[in-house]
Amino acid sequence: MEDTAQAIANLTRERWEANAQYWVKVIREHRDRYRTELTDRAVLDAIGPCEGQRVLDAGCGEGYLARTLASQGADVTGVDVSQGLIDAASAHPSPDGAPTFTRAGVEDLPFGDDTFDLIVCNHLFSHLQDPTGAFGEFSRVLISGGRVVLLTLHPCFYVENSEHGAMNSVPAPQYFASRGIDQRFLVDGLESPSMITSWLRPLEFYAGTLRDSGFVIADLREPHPTQEQMRDDPWWRKGFPTALFMLLIAERR
Ligand SMILES: C[S@@+](CC[C@H](N)C(=O)[O-])C[C@H]1O[C@@H](n2cnc3c(N)ncnc32)[C@H](O)[C@@H]1O
Repeated sequence: MEDTAQAIANLTRERWEANAQYWVKVIREHRDRYRTELTDRAVLDAIGPCEGQRVLDAGCGEGYLARTLASQGADVTGVDVSQGLIDAASAHPSPDGAPTFTRAGVEDLPFGDDTFDLIVCNHLFSHLQDPTGAFGEFSRVLISGGRVVLLTLHPCFYVENSEHGAMNSVPAPQYFASRGIDQRFLVDGLESPSMITSWLRPLEFYAGTLRDSGFVIADLREPHPTQEQMRDDPWWRKGFPTALFMLLIAERR
């Protein structure tokens, strides 16, 4: 990694260490409605039946998705750069299966070639300044025909404070450059102790980098609330002013 990229990666890790306990609270108290009422279902639908599959949960956080997939019979490994989050994930009881958790960055995975059938990246990619190395590693550790399921902020429409109703278009020069948005999480009234940078890059980055790393895009979805959610719940009307999420499914050739 170049010096600047390494410095940004180090800063991201430090910020996530500072936010680790905050994140455990947000997730374990089910405070993030985007997940509990929208994106979790979208990710699980995209994964489909996973019994017997070897799954890597990349950027696993405190491990809830790894536990869910393990309870469905998958053989799950979670990796994350934050030691605090890996400790929290490892300490959580897991009665229906036992995922393994390891501290590692997705740019340098401590696994052999062809180790996994599926890699899931749940809200990870907006925390990577340049995911090119991650895609290279995913290609290496996945079997041929293996899949990546990637849920992230929508690169075309997400702007600062979208969660709180902001809706602006992204000017072309910013859209086509990789853009970083500095903000604290504010989830259900809880503000994160540390600032986080959310990185967004154009759709053609995903198409080109996946192609160059040996993947074909099998599907692109845009998880969004139902008409009923929008009609019946002012929280969704304010909190989903535009398309906020993109879900990609890519297959290793
Ligand atoms: C928004 S959280 C999502 C965590 C979890 N997937 C979830 O949905 O709760 C982003 C996670 O990415 C992790 N992360 C950031 N950069 C990473 C990297 N280079 N390699 C692995 N994990 C990383 C952070 O530590 C954090 O846990």
